[in-house]
Amino acid sequence: MMNLCRLVIVFFMLLIVGCQTDPVPDPISDSLNFKVDSVLRLMTLEEKIGQMNQYNGFWNVTGPSPKKGAAQLKYKHLEAGLVGSMLNVRGVENVKAVQKIAVEKTRLGIPLIIGFDVIHGYKTLTPIPLAEAASWDLDAIKNSAKNAALEASAAGINWTFAPMVDISRDARWGRVMEGAGEDPYLGSLIAKARVQGFQGEDLSDAITIVACAKHFAGYGFAEAGRDYNTVDVGMSTLYNIIFPPFIAATKAGVRTYMNSFNELNGIPATGNAFLQREVLKGAWGFDGFIVSDWDSAGEMVAHGYAKDDKHAAELAVNAGSDMDMESYTFVTYMKELVEEGKVKESYVNDAARRILKVKFELGLFDNPYKYCDVNREREVTGSEELHKASLDIAKKSIVLLKNENQLLPLKKEGLNIAVIGDLANDKTSPLGSWRIAAEDKTAISVLEGLKSYEKNNITFAPGPKLALGNPTFTQEVQVNTSDKSGFKEAVRAAKNKDVVIMVLGEHGFQSGEARSRSNLKLPGLQQELLEAVYKVNKNIVLVLMNGRPLAINWADKNVPSIIEAWQLGSQSGNAIAQVLYGDYNPSGKLPMTFPKNVGQVPIYYNYKNTGRPLKENPNDVFHSHYQDVSNSPLYPFGYGLSYTSFSYKDLELSAKTLTKDSSIVASVTVTNTGKYFGKEVVQLYIRDLVGSRTRPVKELKGFEMISLNPGESKVVQFTIDAKMLQFYTAQNKWEAEFGDFTVFIGESSAKSLEANFSLSK
Ligand code: NOJ
Repeated sequence: MMNLCRLVIVFFMLLIVGCQTDPVPDPISDSLNFKVDSVLRLMTLEEKIGQMNQYNGFWNVTGPSPKKGAAQLKYKHLEAGLVGSMLNVRGVENVKAVQKIAVEKTRLGIPLIIGFDVIHGYKTLTPIPLAEAASWDLDAIKNSAKNAALEASAAGINWTFAPMVDISRDARWGRVMEGAGEDPYLGSLIAKARVQGFQGEDLSDAITIVACAKHFAGYGFAEAGRDYNTVDVGMSTLYNIIFPPFIAATKAGVRTYMNSFNELNGIPATGNAFLQREVLKGAWGFDGFIVSDWDSAGEMVAHGYAKDDKHAAELAVNAGSDMDMESYTFVTYMKELVEEGKVKESYVNDAARRILKVKFELGLFDNPYKYCDVNREREVTGSEELHKASLDIAKKSIVLLKNENQLLPLKKEGLNIAVIGDLANDKTSPLGSWRIAAEDKTAISVLEGLKSYEKNNITFAPGPKLALGNPTFTQEVQVNTSDKSGFKEAVRAAKNKDVVIMVLGEHGFQSGEARSRSNLKLPGLQQELLEAVYKVNKNIVLVLMNGRPLAINWADKNVPSIIEAWQLGSQSGNAIAQVLYGDYNPSGKLPMTFPKNVGQVPIYYNYKNTGRPLKENPNDVFHSHYQDVSNSPLYPFGYGLSYTSFSYKDLELSAKTLTKDSSIVASVTVTNTGKYFGKEVVQLYIRDLVGSRTRPVKELKGFEMISLNPGESKVVQFTIDAKMLQFYTAQNKWEAEFGDFTVFIGESSAKSLEANFSLSK
């Protein structure tokens, strides 16, 4: 405590001195900057560089193994005031221990900011972000982030490395599970909801945490979907597809950014001054700080961009990176680099200032232990309310992909059901890949969820194992491709049952960081099992659990009912059971296109027409297509069924012409034509027919979720104005261009009504 007190006294003395000698700052509007500068003035160059240094803690590891002797070095640096942040330190006791070193043992007692990957919950897990995006329910998503912040902050954490707002069109990329899918508009709204959820109204509130928009930028466009791979995209894609969710996060007030592992157009993101200085800190005016990704500064050597670690540190800071995660390069070389004039001291000052500012905003200078309340940790962790909210969003995230002859919902009594599949009984895999703080085996399994409906008779047969051993976060999953034990028993169990629920998909560790796949089929022996079961019983409900779109053509053709249940977190099995039994009528819509095969990837709804678009009945070969598969996906973006049905009619526009100052109201009548109460996401798409840069065949521009009783109708209205039509033009400006547009309103990107209007002077 001594050092903290000393810091506070010196700080107030400086406040007085500062008031006498410096130009007088506006004490109200600029008091934060003034405080930050007051601390900064006390700091040596080494201490400022120390603020720019982030170390992994001594427990969990979320990247390549730490260097030998790292722990001793880290303690030494902590005590010397050479660490500004730690990640992967969690739990009040542990956080308190490291914070105590920073506050009580260092010269100035500057508190640490404690980061953690709170991606979809802390210990009480919600659905993986891709699944939550399928809910299209922004309030539920915001609430989910708010709850994650609540639980994480009670465990001593005050900074999450989320949301990941990378757009991706490539299901091979394992990290699609961590994002909001392929669309920049939906992705932007979700980015905003998540940032607001984590950060709340007031960062100094102990139940909110700092958010981090990542990975800046282009990470989701890795060539061939292979994680960390090269990214080469043009200005149009960068500005119109990749940037929008980052812009939304910035506007929502996100306080930190993470740059990314990939190179973008030849320059690694961590050393990319265009991205960090020109765009983010320049054009967008971002005044928080940028952390590098795990050793991404050091990795610029392997990229062939920096000649050694020292050069990497120079390039990173000159390009605008403020804090280094785990590469040790800043702490090792920055002082030398400044003394040699290779890095301007003003860059170091600026970085330290940004970091200190966020620490002030969190209120860490007032009370460094404000997130370290053991009683709160005990009360909040795994609370009933958190589980209730997790169940709520888990149900909303499920997407009904097929339901022939209304096989679903299931009757609640009198059925003989076979439940088949290794995943059905798995209490760990539904927690997904980002579950560092959650205990193994804490998810409700599908089997448990189904068994809570006690009036049906369930026979369970796991079939062959999906993964061998006990998959972990840091190791490759070994998929079982040969051990068929359990096969026969599964087939036997399926015979003569009223219905077979097959729970198939990917292990939770088959998606996530470094978990790309080159094929999108059901892994291991699952397809074979599905076909074998089908031979004895066709009444199959397929419950898919996966972290990415899968190519499930055979199932789509043959299996009567399919639900997409992703990895839904702690309440997974309850959510699935409630949907299967109709206690929740599915309302999710796909945030990402499902391909027919991996060769179609990247496949996305907002594609360009090309000069030789697909013809309905082509009589020659010269158009953009494949010989062996159609251009259309298996399930399009925005697709998702309900147990009821909806009809769309009477699309009307209030005017046919729009000016830059007027607006048009587009309306449509939606009717629940089925037997159940249901929710529908009514989607608005627009096509700009001619542009200074070619425009996509359609782009999502709005949506509204409505609830309808059987027989009920609602008129849904969207207001279209010129702002909605803006894009990054060939003149490198965000502008709406005059011309003709088509508006589509419907139930998915592939099924809608259409009308036309124009934008003119
Ligand atoms: C690497 C990942 O790319 C990043 O998203 C994550 O936040 C860090 N590791 C820390 O775990």
